[in-house]
Amino acid sequence: MTDTLAIKVTKTTSSKLSKTDFEDLPFGKIFSDHMLTADYADGEWKNFEIVPYGNISVSPAMSSLHYGQTFFEGLKAYRNDDGKISIFRPDKNAKRFNSSAERMCMPALPEELFIQSIGAVVDLDRDWVPNKKDYTLYIRPFMFATDPYLGVQPSTTYKFMVLLCPTGKYFSKNLSVKIETEYTRSAEGGFGYAKAAGNYAGSLYPGKKAAEQGFDQILWTDAKTHEYVEEMGAANAMFVIDGKLVTPSTRDTILDGVTRDSIITLAKEWGMEVEERRVSVAEVIEAVENGTLTDAFGAGTAAVIASVADITYKGKTYTLPNPDESVFANKMRKAMDDIKYGRVEDTRNWNYIV
Ligand code: PLP
Ligand code: COI
Repeated sequence: MTDTLAIKVTKTTSSKLSKTDFEDLPFGKIFSDHMLTADYADGEWKNFEIVPYGNISVSPAMSSLHYGQTFFEGLKAYRNDDGKISIFRPDKNAKRFNSSAERMCMPALPEELFIQSIGAVVDLDRDWVPNKKDYTLYIRPFMFATDPYLGVQPSTTYKFMVLLCPTGKYFSKNLSVKIETEYTRSAEGGFGYAKAAGNYAGSLYPGKKAAEQGFDQILWTDAKTHEYVEEMGAANAMFVIDGKLVTPSTRDTILDGVTRDSIITLAKEWGMEVEERRVSVAEVIEAVENGTLTDAFGAGTAAVIASVADITYKGKTYTLPNPDESVFANKMRKAMDDIKYGRVEDTRNWNYIV
C-alpha cells in the first residue's frame, strides 16, 4: 500500500530557534517549533496536521490518563556531513509501533503514514537538527486513547503525535549498574516487548531506590527466578565474553531494540560470533571474575552504546575493564556513526533521507 499523506501545515510565527542554546541540550527538555498530530475515529486515521509546538486540550476523562492505554517510539535524525538529514531505520520503528499498538488494543498506523509523518515534521524543522558530535534530533512519536469514558475497555478514538527534541547525550558517564533481584519490569505473558507507558511507570520506583543507592541504571532480570539477565530500563543489555557478542534473546518480556539489531548485524558482518540466548547472571559474574568479559553496555536510541563501569549483584560490586579503553565499543560507536552520518555507503538501506 502506498498512501500519500496530505498534511495541513500551520507554521509558527515566533520561532524559538535563535533563542535555543545548541551547546546545552539536555535530553527531552527542549522542543522544536512544530509537532505533528493526527486523529483516529470511525475506524480511520485523519486530520494529519503540523502545528506550532504547544499545549493541547484533552478531556480529563480521557481513558489513557486513567488506564494507561498509550505507548511511544523513539528514533533520531542526524545532520550528515554533506548537509542532508537522515533518519535511522524508521521502518523498524514503524513495525514496532504497530506491534505495541496491537498489544495495547490500539489501531495500527500504516508504515508509510508513520514514516511520512515523521519525515514531514523533521523536514519542516530541519534547522533544529544539531550540528555537533553526539548531538542529534530525537524524534518521539506516540499514540494515546482519547475516549472520555471511565469504563475499562479499549478506546474507540486515539491521537497520534510526533514531537522533536534537539538533544545531547542521554548518559554522560559510564554506568554503575544494579542487577535487580527484587522488583520486576515485565513478566511472561505481559507486555514488556511493547513500548507501553506502563512499563516505564512501573520501573520508576525500583529506579528511584537504585538511584538512592548510587546506581545509574537497573539491569532487569526475569520475573520468575531473577537468575537471567533481561534488559536495562531504556536500553538492551549486551556483553562481549570470550570475544563473542552475547545478548539476551528477545521474547515477550524484552523490547526488540533497533540499536541491538544494528549492532548484531554489524558484529556478524565483522565475522564475530553472536549469541542471542538466555544469559544467566551467574555466567556474567563469572566472566567478570575470570577476566573473559571485556564489555558490557546498554544499546538504545537515546542511550546509544552506554558502557557499564561496574555491576552490583546482591550487594557485591564488580568493577569491569575500563570501558574507555574498549576496542569493541569504540569501534562499534564509530561504525554506527559512520552509517548514520552518511560517511560510508548505506549498503543496508538504513538511512531515510529527509
Ligand atoms: N529497551 C527499552 C526498555 C527501551 O526503552 C529502549 C529504547 O528505546 C531500548 C530497549 C532500545 O531500543 P532501541 O534501540 O530501538 O531504541
Ligand atoms: C529511546 O531510546 O528511544 C527510549 O525510548 C529511551 C527513553 C525511555 C528515554
